[in-house]
Amino acid sequence: MWTADKPFNSLPDLPPPIDVESKHVLKQVTEARAALASLDQAARRIPNPSVLLNSIPLLEAQASSEIENIVTTADELFTADQLDAESARPEAKEALRYRAALLDGVRSVRQRPLSTNTLIAICSTLQAREMRVRDLAGTFIGNPVTREAIYTPPEGQRLLLERLDAWARFAHSNATLDPLVLMALAHYQFEAIHPFSDGNGRTGRIVNILLLIERGLLSEPILYLSRYIIQNKSEYYRLLLAVTAEASWEEWVSFMLEGIRQTALSTVEKIDDIQLLHREMQAELRAALPGGANADLLDVLFEQPFCRITTVMERCGVSRPTATKWLKLLAEAEILVPLKLGKSLIFVNGRFFSLLTRSERAPEPTPTLF
Ligand SMILES: Nc1ncnc2c1ncn2[C@@H]1O[C@H](COP(=O)(O)OP(=O)(O)OP(=O)(O)O)[C@@H](O)[C@H]1O
Ligand SMILES: [Mg+2]
Repeated sequence: MWTADKPFNSLPDLPPPIDVESKHVLKQVTEARAALASLDQAARRIPNPSVLLNSIPLLEAQASSEIENIVTTADELFTADQLDAESARPEAKEALRYRAALLDGVRSVRQRPLSTNTLIAICSTLQAREMRVRDLAGTFIGNPVTREAIYTPPEGQRLLLERLDAWARFAHSNATLDPLVLMALAHYQFEAIHPFSDGNGRTGRIVNILLLIERGLLSEPILYLSRYIIQNKSEYYRLLLAVTAEASWEEWVSFMLEGIRQTALSTVEKIDDIQLLHREMQAELRAALPGGANADLLDVLFEQPFCRITTVMERCGVSRPTATKWLKLLAEAEILVPLKLGKSLIFVNGRFFSLLTRSERAPEPTPTLF
């Protein structure tokens, strides 16, 4: 039996004892998988994949960190990424670490299956210190002021390690479950185990992406799922709790599947718009620069919406005067906006930046049973 203020040491391992793949869930699975497949194809179509790999994980980092009330703006993050990250605010540094943890995690799952050690490594990168699986009591989810608990995760390091091992076995089991359903179940379970003293939410959200990459449903970490979670934050918390309190698995799985579908579709739209803008700017660069459009320069302007003279020098193999001349000409033609930040001059690709950060309207919801 579960009680809000007692450590849930009898948390059962996965899979749940009921069949979560109802007809309705399977219909959602089909739609979410189609959306994910079109995202993967769109990403493969793009000539320079760094365009997405630099920016989408940074947006994911911003949204995911904001759930923990670590509030940064996209421009603060893109700027911190360009300038000396050491001088950034702690909140920006924290979000940059989220991206680092995500990208490290991707490298890791390309080499070996996700394990408890991968989880510890991710959480340690996020927190910038060696994290261990909790061995102290007192972690709870609830009101920090009144100390009223909503959920109290299991306690005891040995028990937590056993639950995590079982979690990893389940994540790699050849169960007949669809990989997206498996991801949703695994996310609940990881949060319910809550193995660390902090960073469980963010680690769990990184793991969502890693599980999809492991299963070959996504080739790069460009699913921006945390935006959906932050937009539906109270629902996200309510449904996590409802699994524990009422075994509402189907509603939880349904929520996550809808998130994958919506996020994948809106990212495809973003990618299409980025490609259109890329073509438009190619023509503009051709007209604005004496020697015509330099392909490397165009790439640089789309890898980061904020660009420095030194980046152009390095990437295009040109001297400082040439790089400066190019960027100034583009600023004069109002293609880029110059911005003085401390001692540094950076040039902003404003249209690319707005495209990356615009808040999309959510795609039409699929009618749900609930
Ligand atoms: N009732 C619940 N049962 C299990 N897990 C929960 C419940 N409510 C919230 N959680 C999870 O706990 C996370 C918060 O835990 P923690 O503070 O360790 O993570 P974080 O990464 O620091 O924070 P955040 O997720 O808010 O960014 C939430 O994001 C959510 O995933
Ligand atoms: Mg926290």
